[in-house]
Amino acid sequence: MPEDALLSLQLDHLKELQSRYESVLADNGFDSLLIASGAAPYRHGDDQRWHFQGYGPFLHWTGLAGRENCWLLIRSGHKPVLWLYEPVDFWHANQALPEEPWQAFIELRSNQSPDAPVLDDPGHVAVIGDPALIDGVAREHNPEDLLAALDETRVHKTAYEIECLARANALALVGHRAARDAFANGESEFSISLAYQQATGQREADAPYHSIIGLNEHAGTLHYQYYDTRPPGHPRSLLIDAGVRFRGYCSDITRTTAGPGESHFAALVHGLERLQLRLCEMVAPGVDYVDIHRKSHQGIAALLSASGLVTGLTDEDIVEQGITRAFFPHGIGHFLGVQVHDVAGKPTPPPEDAPFLRLTRTLEPGMVVTIEPGLYFIPSLLEPLLAGEVGRHINRERLNSLRGCGGIRIEDNVAVTETGNRNLTRDRQG
Ligand code: GLY
Ligand code: MN
Ligand code: MN
Repeated sequence: MPEDALLSLQLDHLKELQSRYESVLADNGFDSLLIASGAAPYRHGDDQRWHFQGYGPFLHWTGLAGRENCWLLIRSGHKPVLWLYEPVDFWHANQALPEEPWQAFIELRSNQSPDAPVLDDPGHVAVIGDPALIDGVAREHNPEDLLAALDETRVHKTAYEIECLARANALALVGHRAARDAFANGESEFSISLAYQQATGQREADAPYHSIIGLNEHAGTLHYQYYDTRPPGHPRSLLIDAGVRFRGYCSDITRTTAGPGESHFAALVHGLERLQLRLCEMVAPGVDYVDIHRKSHQGIAALLSASGLVTGLTDEDIVEQGITRAFFPHGIGHFLGVQVHDVAGKPTPPPEDAPFLRLTRTLEPGMVVTIEPGLYFIPSLLEPLLAGEVGRHINRERLNSLRGCGGIRIEDNVAVTETGNRNLTRDRQG
């Protein structure tokens, strides 16, 4: 979608938010809402701050992920007002805002102080944000029911939000291609991370989450957080889970690549990708997301069987005996939006067989979810399995030959449409 078309959706998005927020405020007995963008705290015992990324409701309106000490007032029947923190400060820069349609909808005021603005006649006001920052504001803070209702306003994305998420995907895919090329050149995790940042034009600190870049065994740590600066002698696998923020909206994409000569691992990657595509196709209105999670376990059981890793058990038994849980310990995915694990996914707790599932809702048009099955060789989960009753069904030789590849995850971002789904990750990738 061209830039003009995207921007033309921005006003509709804001009108929709105004209407959703007005209803929520009325339902909860408030006339207005003051949202604190937040600010990075100082590190303990240090004069340096943590890197800042803004508060969800503030991003929902403005998309401004890096702006600290700003305040946004939403008031029924009035234009929203945004106080932008722009101090005269020779240590730091004030970034100019690009001119965009939202500035016709939201009144902008420049603020020299990081403190909350004095409000004229706001009626009954709620203030939401980091408790450490709103502590001194003499209003009602973070009312629980109001926060839950505001989270709900983020569940069904507007057309503007879906386009922003699609852009965040397109940008991240350029990085994923660069990462794959760097892996093919035998580069280290650190060099691959540089290639990803260079290709996406985004510094690591501004990414929606710490990019996970694991070579070989490291691919088997779900949220592997380090980057080796030396390449491994024998590159067997790359797992990269990395996204981009676009106007506040996150992508969250994972790709796994087999190294040269890794035919068994490559076959597993191929099998998991085919399963992942089938699971993406399940995304549609009326589908219980928990069913997609359960379907993923059946598919992984079939893959474990077909690859010869598990023998002598039916696919049902492989799931029931907990074998798929050892190979695929996390949930099938989550909501995605201005936060990578977007809010309001679990109005009911996850079922016992899926304790880490972050989304337990029935899908509806406008929701955006990730679909991210995995298959890993995680020693702390495999050893009890091998030592137990089902150990005799695991092909140890095959397993040991694959352990050094760490694991596989394949993750796309999928929007629920009126009739089915739109895979935002594969829109352009083919
Ligand atoms: N990147 C974290 C996740 O996939 O949930
Ligand atoms: Mn994810
Ligand atoms: Mn991810």
